[in-house]
Amino acid sequence: MSLLQDEFAQADGLRYLNHAAVAPWPKRATRAVQSFAEENLHLGARGYPDWLIIERRLRERLARLLNSSTTADIALVKNTSEALSFVAFGLDWATGDQVVISDQEFPSNRVVWEALKRFGVEVLQVSLDVPDPEGALLAACGPRTRLMSISAVQYASGLRLDLQRLGHGCRQSGVLFCVDAIQQLGALPFDVQAIDCAFAMADGHKWMLGPEGLGVFYCRSDLREQLKLHEYGWHMLEHPGDYERADWEPSRTARRFECGSPNMLGAMALEASLSLLEEVGMEQVALALGERVQWLQDGLARIPGVQLLSPLDPVRRAGILNFRLDGWENQALFERLRAEQVVCAQRGGGIRFSPHFYTQPRVIEETLSLLRQMADA
Ligand SMILES: Cc1ncc(COP(=O)(O)O)c(C=O)c1O
Repeated sequence: MSLLQDEFAQADGLRYLNHAAVAPWPKRATRAVQSFAEENLHLGARGYPDWLIIERRLRERLARLLNSSTTADIALVKNTSEALSFVAFGLDWATGDQVVISDQEFPSNRVVWEALKRFGVEVLQVSLDVPDPEGALLAACGPRTRLMSISAVQYASGLRLDLQRLGHGCRQSGVLFCVDAIQQLGALPFDVQAIDCAFAMADGHKWMLGPEGLGVFYCRSDLREQLKLHEYGWHMLEHPGDYERADWEPSRTARRFECGSPNMLGAMALEASLSLLEEVGMEQVALALGERVQWLQDGLARIPGVQLLSPLDPVRRAGILNFRLDGWENQALFERLRAEQVVCAQRGGGIRFSPHFYTQPRVIEETLSLLRQMADA
């Protein structure tokens, strides 16, 4: 792991516990962007064919990260919201169709379904605050349910769902299973085949350690042509370089969702960040992250007045821990932590900590010690 510490160069004294929001980049992503900028300065796009090789490598890395059997199922998108919109506005809806979501979803995975109201689509929000959330979600699926859309890990509470069970249940009842994977991809292994999902999406700027503005959309092959397209351009065509050609058809691969020029700058950075995750290996990343979350959780639990709002069972969480401290308003606590260089977030009625696999012990120890002082004050 010491080699890994060399990949991160966060400022002295900074305590970065905010990977569930926007992550710092590793050095290799920073270098990739710097050298891309230099190349553009001196050579423009003379090396474009080499850029395409990196873009292809990125697609391959994403396919492996999702365990997609082919890059043909992978589209590069702007963000999670865009991919969710491709699904929501790509499917053909009938009045009375239902979509099942949870009552804890980030707005991206709620608003997009509510926006289908004009087609007569009804959204059922299922409470996850029950002993068996997967059972509740599956029980909400009736004869009119077309799709279930759920975050793999809830953004505020950090609750991780049993995606395999949900995917299996959806398959059995003929419901399309859509997974907002942004809070899991890059933190824990993720496997579109094992969970039998129809669609999955995530942006690169959280656990994947990439920049904002470049994400991944997995669309199962047999569903690709069922999604109506709403964005057209040269890049999404079956023959994208054949500019003189009059006839055209959308690409047979998921590139059909990429209308025009790619986000090449983002691709340089994300490809580099993912190379690090692949070198470490997702099993190892998950193990190291799990140790850090457990360490934080144990430390928080020993501080008088701390109420942990996240699930305590390791199988029920990924990289997010949410808590409150008696005697402190969340806003005041958040501001005090920020003043002490603890970078975290205020979410879901508490303070959200989200370390990553490389987070140094110092960061955790110092943060816990600060909170102990605040609890005593
Ligand atoms: C569960 C979840 N979905 C989606 C998003 C945002 O998605 P994007 O900005 O990639 O559209 C977030 C960001 O916090 C999130 O936590």
